[in-house]
Amino acid sequence: MRIQLSEENRPDRRIMGFMMTAAEKCVSDAGLDPSLTEISLSVVSEEEIHELNRNFRETDRVTDVLSFPQYASLDEIGNQEVILLGDVVICDTVARRQAEQYGHSYEREFVYLFVHSVLHLLGYDHMEPEEKKEMRAKEEEVMSYIGLQRGFTPAEDFTAEEESAASSDPMTGRELPQEETESPEETDYRELMDFARSAVENSYAPYSGFHVGAALLTADGSVYTGVNVENASYGASICAERSAVAAAVSDGCREFEAIAVYSPDGDASPCGICRQVLMEFGDNIRVVTCEESGELDVCELSSLLPKGFVL
Ligand code: THU
Repeated sequence: MRIQLSEENRPDRRIMGFMMTAAEKCVSDAGLDPSLTEISLSVVSEEEIHELNRNFRETDRVTDVLSFPQYASLDEIGNQEVILLGDVVICDTVARRQAEQYGHSYEREFVYLFVHSVLHLLGYDHMEPEEKKEMRAKEEEVMSYIGLQRGFTPAEDFTAEEESAASSDPMTGRELPQEETESPEETDYRELMDFARSAVENSYAPYSGFHVGAALLTADGSVYTGVNVENASYGASICAERSAVAAAVSDGCREFEAIAVYSPDGDASPCGICRQVLMEFGDNIRVVTCEESGELDVCELSSLLPKGFVL
């Protein structure tokens, strides 16, 4: 396995070690020979990743990681001597910020972004709910394999005792230490927000230009997304939150744990009608919004709609 590094901002040895082990596992699990495989890694500034995102993905914003696969499908790989899987680009400033926000180490965040990207190079994706589930599960498997799973940072702190006390996160299936009983505010809704952030790309908002994505987490751990869909007859428009509720209910789900709402165009907090619609399914649903800094804000629906109407 070879990870080709750019000249600048090389990760330290410890992170390199984690990345090598993770990449070898991802590659061999995909049926490729790690000894023939190479991945290129660049660690860049916020300005650089913003520019790459704009130029290659037509998305005009800073992001944490970008993946540029060499092969559209692994079937294209023949009998070559060296398999160059593609390029991983990580913004270390964003990784550092995210690590702080989510309360884990920089090395865990950096390695997680790397694993996510390597899986993209190997053909994993998160556009469809099923493939998203599969990709998340694989990420967790790899992070656990290298000893950097969520809740245990840094790796040395991971002891057999803690392992036996581990229980499963309802949303991702990630291992969490049992003694960490999280209050709603402490629960990591980052993945849920990622769903909302991905969904927003399908928002149809030609009139307001205000794009919104929502991701609704059900009691059984499924996630339903929705976007705002506007109409020339303005009143016929629907908000992202209600689209997500309609998708979940149409699929037979009515028990909701949390909803994440995201807009790249400004603060998105559920409007009054959406609050009332959510209230129908319980006033303790957590409402997760994203502040301008990227930090998540979590509150209970009851605090956003005191004395909501119920029959
Ligand atoms: N919108 C939502 O989708 N969710 C909210 O929480 C607030 C507003 C949409 C409705 C409309 O398409 C656009 O944002 C501007 O109001």
